[in-house]
Amino acid sequence: MKFFVDTANLEQIQEAYDLGILDGVTTNPSLMAKEGIKGQEAIIEHYKKICEIVDGDVSAEVISTDFEGIVKEGEMLAALHPNIVVKVPMIKDGIKAIKYFSGKGIRTNCTLVFSAGQAILAAKAGATYLSPFLGRVDDISWDGVDLIDQIVAIYENYAFNTQVLAASIRNPLHIIKCAEIGADVVTCPLKSILALLNHPLTDNGLAKFLADAEKMK
Ligand code: E4P
Repeated sequence: MKFFVDTANLEQIQEAYDLGILDGVTTNPSLMAKEGIKGQEAIIEHYKKICEIVDGDVSAEVISTDFEGIVKEGEMLAALHPNIVVKVPMIKDGIKAIKYFSGKGIRTNCTLVFSAGQAILAAKAGATYLSPFLGRVDDISWDGVDLIDQIVAIYENYAFNTQVLAASIRNPLHIIKCAEIGADVVTCPLKSILALLNHPLTDNGLAKFLADAEKMK
C-alpha cells in the first residue's frame, strides 16, 4: 500500500519524506489556500517545491470545470514536473478530460468521488487514481470504509488499472481498514500516519528496557 500525505505544507511534506515511507502527495485548492498561496505564479512555484522534496506522485488540482479549461490547465500542470498527476473533479467534463489525458499519457487523479457508479465511470475513462473521500462519507453517517471496499471489489472484477486512492482519511483506524480491504493508496494528514506509531505497551516496554539498561552502566 502506498502512503501519500494530504497537505500542501512543505514542513509536513519534508517530515513525512524524512520518515522514509512517503510515496507521494495530494493537494487540493483548500489545502493550497491554507498555506496562504495566492496567484498563478505562486501556485506553480509551490508545486515545483513539493516536487523537489518528494520522489513520487504529486496531485495538482485543476480549478476549471469545462472540458477546454480542464485540458489547458491540466496540460500546463503536467508540464511542470514528471511527478505531477492532474487532479480532475468527478463531473461530466472532468470524465471527458480524463479520457483525453489518458490518451495523451498524462496521469490523472479523479477527485470528489462518493459512489461506486462514479468509480466505474472514472475507471472506464482511464483515470490513473480514483479518490473516494471516505471521511466525508463518514461525516454524513454513511460508511466510508464500505464504499472503498465496494470499489476495490468492482475494480478487481474487471481488472481495471485505476488505483484506489482512499482520501479524506481522518484517523489511523481508517488507514488500517483500507489496508485490510486492499486500497492501493491512502492519502492522509501527517498526524494520522504518525498516530500509527502509538501503543502504550511500546512506551511502557521501552521505558522498562531503558531503566534496566541504566543498571548495566
Ligand atoms: C484528497 O485528495 C482530498 O483532497 C482530501 O483527502 C480531502 O480531505 P478532507 O475531507 O479532510 O478535506
